[in-house]
Amino acid sequence: MNATINLEKKHFPVLLNELISIISPLYGGSFIDCTFGQGGYSKKILENKNNKVIALDRDKDVYLYAKELVKNYKEKFKFYNLKFSQINNINLENEKIKAVIFDLGYSMNQIKNFNRGFSFESKGKLNMKMGINEFSSHEVILNMSEINLYKIFKFFGEEKYSKIIARKIIKTRNTKTINTEDLVKIIDSVKKFKYSKKNNSTKVFQALRIFVNKEVSELIYGLIGAFNTLPIGGMLAVVTFHSLEDRIVKFFFKNYSESKNSSRYIPEKKENVKCFKLSQKKPIIPSFEEIEKNPPSRSAKLRYVIKVNDQCNFDEFINKFKHLTDIEDLKFDK
Ligand SMILES: C[S@@+](CC[C@H](N)C(=O)[O-])C[C@H]1O[C@@H](n2cnc3c(N)ncnc32)[C@H](O)[C@@H]1O
Repeated sequence: MNATINLEKKHFPVLLNELISIISPLYGGSFIDCTFGQGGYSKKILENKNNKVIALDRDKDVYLYAKELVKNYKEKFKFYNLKFSQINNINLENEKIKAVIFDLGYSMNQIKNFNRGFSFESKGKLNMKMGINEFSSHEVILNMSEINLYKIFKFFGEEKYSKIIARKIIKTRNTKTINTEDLVKIIDSVKKFKYSKKNNSTKVFQALRIFVNKEVSELIYGLIGAFNTLPIGGMLAVVTFHSLEDRIVKFFFKNYSESKNSSRYIPEKKENVKCFKLSQKKPIIPSFEEIEKNPPSRSAKLRYVIKVNDQCNFDEFINKFKHLTDIEDLKFDK
């Protein structure tokens, strides 16, 4: 989902006040905003004259907003058109980072730009590339086998009718090129008698977007990269928008945090060496007022941790979600 909402042409960065209240005790230093978007978070952090921001975004179009901050804040703000899994490629010139922040998903600018094909309301060719991609959803629908389409829809969209939709796509593409309207029609025809509060196409479109942008691998290697970037005492804060993202972040934070229940009579085992301090088990969610003003914020969850150890091994984390990163690595069949 998205944090940047453009209802009434107004930009609402999600959970902004909550984020600022958890990072403000660290003010006076450098912050990394891994998902610049329209710059709502970066701009707010830069309002404090002792802060600097290093921002990245895979979408080069956001430079439209970044250039304003480059102009206004000069050496206090830097922007990189990079994927956040590449965070360790940034030369930090010995800068000690106070916090790394992620506000996951797409922005309203992306979904409202129908040429980019993120929305099921788009017309014409499928696309869904956020930036720095290998292929688009048009190529996926054109070239992926039935079984692989089924896996993408099932694991990234939790779509109950994945099998039938995949089969119908294969059948249709033998006779015509499937564009956005055709895909919506195929899904509607499969789900015509099924009642759901969500639009019929929501799950399949989410699944394709995750696959095209390799969002699971991005998140896993983005979190590990952020950990490697932070000094001890640095904060890692993440806003998620759907259950798959939240499951990954929750596992990373909880599994590698100090176990609060460990007995002081039992000697710490080696595998108990923890990487984070988890201050709050439950995620921070938007207030009623925020949801009322900006309904799409309702699924947002903010989680954060403090790094307490440098010597961490994340093999268990990588393996836990390997079944999903393997699907992101699936190749076209023709
Ligand atoms: C929800 S918006 C961020 C909104 C921002 N917090 C604001 O206040 O304007 C998410 C942004 O993250 C970017 N993004 C998503 N995945 C990314 C990745 N793997 N690497 C870098 N940027 C990414 C998207 O292009 C989009 O601009």
